[in-house]
Amino acid sequence: MAAIDRAVLLLTLLWTPARGDTVISCDLKKSCMLPCRFQAGDEKVIHWIQEKPVKAQTHSYYYKKNQLALQSQRFKSRTSLFLDQLSTGNASLQLRGVEAQDEGSYRCYTSTSNGHDQSIVSLHVDAQVREVSVNWTGNRMTCSSDWIYPEPVLTWSTDPSSTIARQYNTTVKITEEHLYNITSSLMLPDSDEGLNYSCNISTRSSWRKITLRQQSLLNMDHAKIPCHASSVSFRDFSLIWSFNHSQIIVNRSRTNVTKVSDQWKQRVKEVSESGDLFLQGLKPDQGGIFTCELRQAGKAHLTETVLRITKDRPTPNIGGIITGVLLVCLPLIFIWGYYKNQICATGQVKNACHRSKKVCMDCLT
Ligand SMILES: *[C@@H]1O[C@H](CO)[C@@H](O)[C@H](O)[C@H]1NC(C)=O
Ligand SMILES: *[C@@H]1O[C@H](CO)[C@@H](O)[C@H](O)[C@H]1NC(C)=O
Ligand SMILES: *[C@@H]1O[C@H](CO)[C@@H](O)[C@H](O)[C@H]1NC(C)=O
Ligand SMILES: *[C@@H]1O[C@H](CO)[C@@H](O)[C@H](O)[C@H]1NC(C)=O
Ligand SMILES: *[C@@H]1O[C@H](CO)[C@@H](O)[C@H](O)[C@H]1NC(C)=O
Ligand SMILES: *[C@@H]1O[C@H](CO)[C@@H](O)[C@H](O)[C@H]1NC(C)=O
Ligand SMILES: *[C@@H]1O[C@H](CO)[C@@H](O)[C@H](O)[C@H]1NC(C)=O
Ligand SMILES: *[C@@H]1O[C@H](CO)[C@@H](O)[C@H](O)[C@H]1NC(C)=O
Ligand SMILES: *[C@@H]1O[C@H](CO)[C@@H](O)[C@H](O)[C@H]1NC(C)=O
Repeated sequence: MAAIDRAVLLLTLLWTPARGDTVISCDLKKSCMLPCRFQAGDEKVIHWIQEKPVKAQTHSYYYKKNQLALQSQRFKSRTSLFLDQLSTGNASLQLRGVEAQDEGSYRCYTSTSNGHDQSIVSLHVDAQVREVSVNWTGNRMTCSSDWIYPEPVLTWSTDPSSTIARQYNTTVKITEEHLYNITSSLMLPDSDEGLNYSCNISTRSSWRKITLRQQSLLNMDHAKIPCHASSVSFRDFSLIWSFNHSQIIVNRSRTNVTKVSDQWKQRVKEVSESGDLFLQGLKPDQGGIFTCELRQAGKAHLTETVLRITKDRPTPNIGGIITGVLLVCLPLIFIWGYYKNQICATGQVKNACHRSKKVCMDCLT
């Protein structure tokens, strides 16, 4: 058949409306198959073309062989057809080492002596949220995760809920591989209000949430450490309790097989159905970070509890400090209240005076 005929044929194909889209999802760096079927016959012509977001020649086959001279550089050595399946009408394309830029829609044109056809395949690329790191320094909590696709959404929350969760800044960076790095920092109040703080990073195919909480044991050798701060159902999740990010305490796959490590056998009294850990016979040197990780394909909720065990003479806790500050401040607030009209009349410190216990000092100076 003459080349002109083929060109005409291609033009005809361009004007034929495509059948409904097939949507497929592929994990970054993995192999994936773009499905396409045609009515088998002689003189097979197959063209795979990426149409969106940019047009790019992906893979062609005619005159009984692969024709890659016009293939876009981006697809070089990453595509193949199932040549032994062509005779059965299978023109599916195998795409290896999937990249973020491969996301888009692809047209599969086929023609034989029996006629022609075409279809569209929409490819979604996913790079799931894997590691989330949280850093708690001073009055700032930072939550970040790298190499995600498509662009993730990050949300902060507290338990019980509070307006604190609205004071944050999120930055998203795009890497050379067109993936997303996200980082967000939450401004914490001056006083520790004993809240549970959570950061949840999500995409359409995955999410990972980390909850940070603190717990103090005063003259107690037993404790219940809750597994998660929300009441989401986690029935089919696997559960792992670990200590200081290194020792495994409990490993429970699904809801029925619970394995307690030998090292922790004496200390673990029970693991409740909802995953809460009951510890006994604790000694002061057993304080540290207890992490509960609930995981299921693409989803994970980690709860990190900083457990402090104090014996006999407790060191003053933050609550004590606040009470102390208040005791010192209250008389000063009275005095300030007395002078308030004068001070505020100048308009200088009006806002500052209303803000916190700490500022009441500033008001007098
Ligand atoms: C095409 O052939 C491949 C390899 O045998 C198979 O995995 C795939 O399911 C087939 N696709 C279609 C649409 O028939
Ligand atoms: C936590 O943040 C502080 C301040 O931004 C930084 O100096 C420190 O290296 C961070 N630590 C980790 C483990 O990321
Ligand atoms: C967010 O960033 C802006 C500008 O850098 C800064 O002024 C503001 O204090 C930040 N807010 C928080 C909650 O970190
Ligand atoms: C994104 O994160 C990766 C891994 O931490 C890092 O190597 C890369 O430099 C980051 N890229 C940008 C643009 O921030
Ligand atoms: C995390 O965020 C995603 C998307 O908003 C949501 O579907 C998921 O339920 C959240 N996870 C938890 C534990 O709240
Ligand atoms: C933090 O979460 C735990 C577990 O759900 C809950 O028992 C505790 O009351 C929460 N803390 C606060 C201050 O609400
Ligand atoms: C937990 O147990 C499961 C099944 O026994 C195992 O596949 C998995 O690797 C274990 N996880 C850890 C962190 O030890
Ligand atoms: C665990 O529970 C599932 C369903 O709840 C059941 O199918 C399975 O047989 C159980 N496995 C064991 C070891 O009891
Ligand atoms: C666990 O971590 C805490 C603080 O991060 C530390 O004080 C403690 O010594 C650690 N415990 C063990 C057994 O490593």
